[in-house]
Amino acid sequence: MESLQQSILISPDFSRLGYLFLKGYDVDNLSQDHQLNLAKQAVFLMEKLGGEHMFHPPAEKILKFMQAGHTAIITDHSLRQLWGFIKLDPWFKPSANIPGEGIGNITIDDVTRAGLYFPVGVEVGSLVVVPQHQNKGFGKFLAKEASSLSEEIYPGIPRIAVVTNDNLSSLHVFTKIGWIGVSPEEAKYIMQGVDVLEGWTPPSTIFVDPLSFPGLHNY
Ligand SMILES: CC(C)(COP(=O)(O)OP(=O)(O)OC[C@H]1O[C@@H](n2cnc3c(N)ncnc32)[C@H](O)[C@@H]1OP(=O)(O)O)[C@@H](O)C(=O)NCCC(=O)NCCS
Repeated sequence: MESLQQSILISPDFSRLGYLFLKGYDVDNLSQDHQLNLAKQAVFLMEKLGGEHMFHPPAEKILKFMQAGHTAIITDHSLRQLWGFIKLDPWFKPSANIPGEGIGNITIDDVTRAGLYFPVGVEVGSLVVVPQHQNKGFGKFLAKEASSLSEEIYPGIPRIAVVTNDNLSSLHVFTKIGWIGVSPEEAKYIMQGVDVLEGWTPPSTIFVDPLSFPGLHNY
């Protein structure tokens, strides 16, 4: 574990807080036991803190996102205590009329390699920070890192986030990092006709990273 600790990034801004940061495939260096433990803690936090704000996926599904290199995670130095978590959830559009449910059931490699689906947007979501480390900048740090990870994996694909209108701290996070709120119609246009709010009832704001969609509000 020593070498992993040395290899993973410790942001100078936060190093005094003694945390480790795992991005994308960094989690491959962890044992299955460590990975599952972190996935379970992420789910626990989503259930405890997320309420109606968030989806509550099972740990097995979160583990799939981690193993697909689609997460960014902050832990303590033992890699046992999860302090913060975020994931990338790509939305696909079928090239033909083929059913499928994305990364939870089939891998991104499967769908894109086969040419069956193409990505139309990447939803940055499941953002959680443990209460004792909130308001220290972890949320904004994770959102920005998720954005750069998304650009690495899905270059040029729009990045979005859906935040319920009563979630003041999360609205603040995305506004502060420069994302722009758009109408459901604008979001649908940006995502090539796919409706990110389908099946989601709480009044919400859809944010778009303007760096991922040049000309936002000018089209
Ligand atoms: C949303 C969440 C991840 C933010 O994490 P965090 O580490 O506290 O975020 P940051 O410290 O980077 O930024 C929080 C900002 O919100 C502000 N904030 C906190 N509570 C607020 C409130 N009630 N109203 C307005 N702003 C608030 C903080 O002052 C800070 O702003 P600043 O950058 O100007 O100082 C965290 O609150 C959380 O885990 N919430 C529960 C889960 C959740 O709702 N996730 C989001 C789903 S979209």
